[in-house]
Amino acid sequence: MLDLSFGLSRRNPPNEIPDTERRMRESKPQTARVVSIASGKGGTGKSVVSTNLAVLRAQQGERVLLVDFDAGLANDHLLLGLAPQFDLGYIVEGRGGAREALVTGPHGLKLLSGGVGRHGLANPTRRELERLFKALRPLEDEFDLILIDHGAGIGYATLAHLAASTTLLLVTSHEITGLSDAYAVYKRGKMVNPDLHVGMVLNRVPDRESAEAAWQRFRDACKRFLGSEPERVGVVPADAAVSASVDARVPVCLYAPTSRAAHALSSVACWNRIDTSRSVSPFFERAAKALR
Ligand SMILES: Nc1ncnc2c1ncn2[C@@H]1O[C@H](COP(=O)(O)OP(=O)(O)OP(=O)(O)O)[C@@H](O)[C@H]1O
Ligand SMILES: [Mg+2]
Repeated sequence: MLDLSFGLSRRNPPNEIPDTERRMRESKPQTARVVSIASGKGGTGKSVVSTNLAVLRAQQGERVLLVDFDAGLANDHLLLGLAPQFDLGYIVEGRGGAREALVTGPHGLKLLSGGVGRHGLANPTRRELERLFKALRPLEDEFDLILIDHGAGIGYATLAHLAASTTLLLVTSHEITGLSDAYAVYKRGKMVNPDLHVGMVLNRVPDRESAEAAWQRFRDACKRFLGSEPERVGVVPADAAVSASVDARVPVCLYAPTSRAAHALSSVACWNRIDTSRSVSPFFERAAKALR
């Protein structure tokens, strides 16, 4: 079997808490760690990666919240086999609180859906985003890890999140179009937040050679034009088990846990930066400030 999960560095065993994390836990009340997931280009596998990471981290005993910020075009509920009654639109419109909008998924993870088919949600105003961030802030006290799945593009909400994030996971294809858009997100992310730590997952990759060539190309461009480079987090192969899992509405890590894609996603879920992605002040407060 072809091993495509190469390129991973310094992984922590699932139950081992890094020293810095342990010290922080002992010293003050905790807010959630937050990881943003984005790509620039559509259809690169952000939602597949986000939902599987959420399940795998919840499986390890973490309190995980997945926020589907592909507002108005949300998919995560479908990939998790859930039918949420409420979504981000419900909160934006002031019809209810964030806690009531959560729905429970595999291993107890909570999903806040982005809603489907509402134009206003897909293009939120600054005021709407401010209201949303304020409503989401208390959730940071109730979870260990918040994963934010973004839509394609680098809109207002995505940029505010990147400005507030410590950690971004870029999910791209190996093709030049995907790499080009991922480069744009990397560049913009570093512009709005020079301290942003960026990891990269190459998804739906046909073979090791394509992954290697794509990574070299991306890294060289980043180094040459931006003077920095993302961390290589993993490579997920193109695998029919993923399409089958999407059809079954069960994440591939549960649907076909021994598949090559599931193995690779498990490795991505062990990325050590996920354990250290907590910031000094609450994420949604900083995201709201970034809107100004
Ligand atoms: N590793 C893979 N192997 C095979 N198919 C895959 C893989 N990853 C994703 N796919 C397929 O690609 C489709 C799109 O994936 P996904 O919805 O995660 O992309 P996305 O980046 O979230 O898209 P959008 O930009 O619309 O939010 C999935 O429905 C799945 O069928
Ligand atoms: Mg998506």
